[in-house]
Amino acid sequence: MCGIVGYIGHREAYPIILKGLKRLEYRGYDSAGIALYDGQDIKLSKTKGKVDDLERRVENEISTNGSLGIGHTRWATHGVPNDVNSHPHYSNSGDLVIIHNGIIENYESLKKELTNRGYTFNSDTDTEVLINLIEDIKKSENVKLGKAVHIALNQVVGAYAIAVFDKNKPNEIVVARLGSPLAIGVGEDEFFIASDASPFIEYTNNAIYLEDEEMAIVRRGKDVKIRKIKDDSLVNPYVQELQLNLEQIEKGGYEHFMLKEIYEQPHAIKDTYRGRLSLENAIIKMAGVEDHMKKFLNADRIIIVACGTSWHAGLVAEYIFEDLARIPVEVEYASEFRYRNPVINENDVVIAISQSGETADTLAAIKLAKSKGAFVFGVCNVVGSSIARETHAGAYTHAGPEIGVASTKAFTTQITVLTLIALRLARAKGTISSSDFRMHMLELEMIPDKVEKALASDDHIKMIADTYKHATNCLYLGRGYNFPVALEGALKLKEISYIHAEGYPAAEMKHGPIALIDENMPIIVIATKKGHYEKVVSNIQEIKSRKGKIIGIVTEGDSTVKELADHVIEVPETLESLSPLLTTIPLQLLSYHIAVMLGKNVDQPRNLAKSVTVE
Ligand code: F6R
Repeated sequence: MCGIVGYIGHREAYPIILKGLKRLEYRGYDSAGIALYDGQDIKLSKTKGKVDDLERRVENEISTNGSLGIGHTRWATHGVPNDVNSHPHYSNSGDLVIIHNGIIENYESLKKELTNRGYTFNSDTDTEVLINLIEDIKKSENVKLGKAVHIALNQVVGAYAIAVFDKNKPNEIVVARLGSPLAIGVGEDEFFIASDASPFIEYTNNAIYLEDEEMAIVRRGKDVKIRKIKDDSLVNPYVQELQLNLEQIEKGGYEHFMLKEIYEQPHAIKDTYRGRLSLENAIIKMAGVEDHMKKFLNADRIIIVACGTSWHAGLVAEYIFEDLARIPVEVEYASEFRYRNPVINENDVVIAISQSGETADTLAAIKLAKSKGAFVFGVCNVVGSSIARETHAGAYTHAGPEIGVASTKAFTTQITVLTLIALRLARAKGTISSSDFRMHMLELEMIPDKVEKALASDDHIKMIADTYKHATNCLYLGRGYNFPVALEGALKLKEISYIHAEGYPAAEMKHGPIALIDENMPIIVIATKKGHYEKVVSNIQEIKSRKGKIIGIVTEGDSTVKELADHVIEVPETLESLSPLLTTIPLQLLSYHIAVMLGKNVDQPRNLAKSVTVE
């Protein structure tokens, strides 16, 4: 939610910030703004709309000189997306300027106090309240900007990543974080500030990630001073070398990031199991699991917490863990779990799944589980993210940066990691025979090639997309392991094409959704050979009798469904437990093509943002 960028150094700040905002646009894109210090004054330009709109506006509105600046791309929380509510925000004097990612929950009471003290506000945002609180403290207590920020942050309740500068002290930017990510790129006599490393990766591989409740003063040509917000104690900056490269965050010839990421899945899955699965030695090894094997083996149950697509991966994992390792599993929406006083104790293992590692609800669910004594294991994609740090142990998916807002390779790599964990535990518990264990490993190793084969249906899927692009409703059906895939398929379609879609367990159809079926309704049915195939075929018959349009996702060589369905899309044969890794692929492509044909912004669907750092 919201991307922030800053630069202080010896180069022109504007091009760096503008390019950085474009890279961070996945985090929010309803408005954007920039503030530059040109040697004398602050030049500020902001607008409702995308970073491209900002670029056009800047050209007509301000000079872009200066080697200090901050920029913001917004996902609105307080105040509708419009020019005035866009960031950066000035303080009343016009001396200070701020960008903010997060929410100040007690902004109304602070605003009242500041209004009583004569402050006025142009926008509806909590951010404008924060910058005036900082200004008020700076003036009334006669302290420097850093100190004023420190005092102010001790008065606010909420979440933030902020960057502030003072035009009277144009050699420093003050930054702070609580609940929203903030990285500082460390170059030669220059510093970069960003929500993630993508805006500065072409300039430096060295970065400091601020921890929660830390603030830093970043000083031009000097150093970074980090302090704890609570007690003001100094923290030694830890500079880490990043593995990220520019290629990973660019489109590499694809029209959209989403398509690139769909096509990256064979590699991403391989990268995820590489070094963990050894067929030769018939072992699966994952440090995070080995180190805590006792916890897993003694667990009364596993509770999985996640949101959105990650929650769907959790549902697939429920089948795998129960099936292979015979451990009871509950899968919870993190947002519900955190507020419903759940019964958890020291014998529970909680697995938190999150691509970004920053999802506020998942983070809160983890904190709750920890407070009740549960052992919490994270499955994250973003290395060093808040969830990766907050959990007791974990395993990364090695999907590489996922930039398209609709999650694709994160889903399949999450399932890969969770399958590895389930297999490892099943082996340790003795709930899987050595031959079955070997067969699963063998099949998992073949998945990347099979995903490649599934991708080869792309042109055929495009034709199907063309036939159904004007549908207003769609139903997705699957059973067993493929029920969560049906949910995921429906989510993909609705989020990028804005077509209403529902996912259901195939057998549930007759308990209600069947009433929706008529000759205009496309129904995507996952009917692979191993998963209750005959039952699903009966469901297809039921749809056919009601004239629904059937798109079957079938195993290569299937002839039964081919005769019944209007279209079939084939995927290679595999074990039932691994089939979600293949059946997901055509559903991703179908949504992608429909959305492109409808002219939708596939990588940045309306109202969404890549990492949901507010609840
Ligand atoms: C859907 C999508 C979202 C995320 C959800 C959780 O395509 O991307 O539903 O899956 O917001 O995000 P993470 O996995 O980052 O916690």
